[in-house]
Amino acid sequence: MAKIRVALFALVATFVASAGIFTFWPSNEVGSSFTERLNVPLEASSTLESSTRTFDLDLQSGETDFGSARSVSTWGINGAYLGPTLRVNKGEEVLINVANNLAEDTTMHWHGLHAPAEMDGGPHQPIASGKVWSPGWLVDQRASTNWYHPHLHGESAAQVKMGLVGMFIVDDPAEAELRLPSTYGVDDIPVIIHDAPDEVSRGNAVQEAIRSVLQRGRPPAVTLVNGGRETLFEVTSQAVRLRLLNATIDDHLTVSFSDGREFKVIASEGGLLPKPEALTSISLSPGERYEVVVEFEPNDVTRLSLVKTNSDNQEADNDEELVEFRSSDDLADTGSVPTTLSNTEPVEVPSSTRVRNFDMSDVAINGMEMDMMRIDQVVAAGSTEIWSIRNLDRRTLHNFHVHGVSFTVLDIDGREPPAYMATQKDTVLVPPGTEVNLLVEFPNVSNDGWPYMFHCHFLRHEGRGMMGQYLVVNEGASLDPEDHMISTMAGHNH
Ligand code: C2O
Ligand code: CU
Ligand code: CU
Repeated sequence: MAKIRVALFALVATFVASAGIFTFWPSNEVGSSFTERLNVPLEASSTLESSTRTFDLDLQSGETDFGSARSVSTWGINGAYLGPTLRVNKGEEVLINVANNLAEDTTMHWHGLHAPAEMDGGPHQPIASGKVWSPGWLVDQRASTNWYHPHLHGESAAQVKMGLVGMFIVDDPAEAELRLPSTYGVDDIPVIIHDAPDEVSRGNAVQEAIRSVLQRGRPPAVTLVNGGRETLFEVTSQAVRLRLLNATIDDHLTVSFSDGREFKVIASEGGLLPKPEALTSISLSPGERYEVVVEFEPNDVTRLSLVKTNSDNQEADNDEELVEFRSSDDLADTGSVPTTLSNTEPVEVPSSTRVRNFDMSDVAINGMEMDMMRIDQVVAAGSTEIWSIRNLDRRTLHNFHVHGVSFTVLDIDGREPPAYMATQKDTVLVPPGTEVNLLVEFPNVSNDGWPYMFHCHFLRHEGRGMMGQYLVVNEGASLDPEDHMISTMAGHNH
């Protein structure tokens, strides 16, 4: 064994010396150099009948050409790779027929949507290969940028990487009145930042050897935007709204523009901020979303650039540029971003508010790894609690995502969170050694038997067990997990 390693190292050293190692990264093989157009996912078609909006989603496998002279097997929704953007209005009933035409079981989770627990698409709602699952609920939440992805127990990371990712936008009249850029695909565009399928990053044997010797950890993922790398977006308006989504498996991303230009953050996961916040860079951990508005002069060029840090807190040594924005000489007037975006009332926290602690360490929460049949927490319908999240690890990044709700970040290590977080969220970074306190409002509807998940959204951790389950029960019912049961997946008939 030792001998093989030495030999391999010699081989690698030769290659490094002769060719320079970075030219071996497969990321250089994928895509062109800012000539191909940025793909904008289609808006999913739907039918609206007496205020029920119905979508048909067809989960399928296919082949995708990533520009490296060979096609790769991928999964997609209504296509070979990735999925269309779902769009609903607040106040509508949504009904989604999810047909699993893959050869494997999966689930479909509506990340950020306040869906009833049995409609949530978590690990307790598997869709067997060949079956159709049709969840529906009343959409009762603010305009916001959400997303959908599989959540099969232990398989989320792999299935997300295959391409089962799409955006899910909620619209409401209050947001529409602001006249923010909102022409889909023109001045309002999804920016889904995600990992290419493993097959894309799998190079030849020599690359594998170099990686396994020189990278103690793992190779950096090949990062794509809406399925492409180094693409071009032609700007035709004075301002463009980007709906940024970190759909990567394991990367904490810092997004900025190559010329350092300022942009305005207008919303996070749960909807609009009270007022826009000007920044030159913003960080998103996996699952997080921010909407930003960027301004352009005529004949202007800039690039969206990324710095990535994996959950082991290792910065990839690349500062990647993924999308070039190039404006024409005649730009449509988009007006300016209003100085007030929403009237979020200051949160008040009664001193009697119940506090629950969640200690994250390694791949466990409160020392326990995910057990499908164990209820970890029980909360009362309509209640508000403080969830206090601590990352006990010294080096590892974690974040915390709660299904079915939005929360407010009260403080980070006792300090007020930055202004761009001053809205409702559903996912938050918990850096090593840090405590983050969240004010969580639970749904009014109880769902005894069907739990919601909370977990680290670095999906490598989630898949290894960093997840737990909570039940929402009727007010007055016992909050002791021992007094409740999980409806068994197979035995529950609806
Ligand atoms: Cu993106 Cu459990 O969720
Ligand atoms: Cu979720
Ligand atoms: Cu984690």
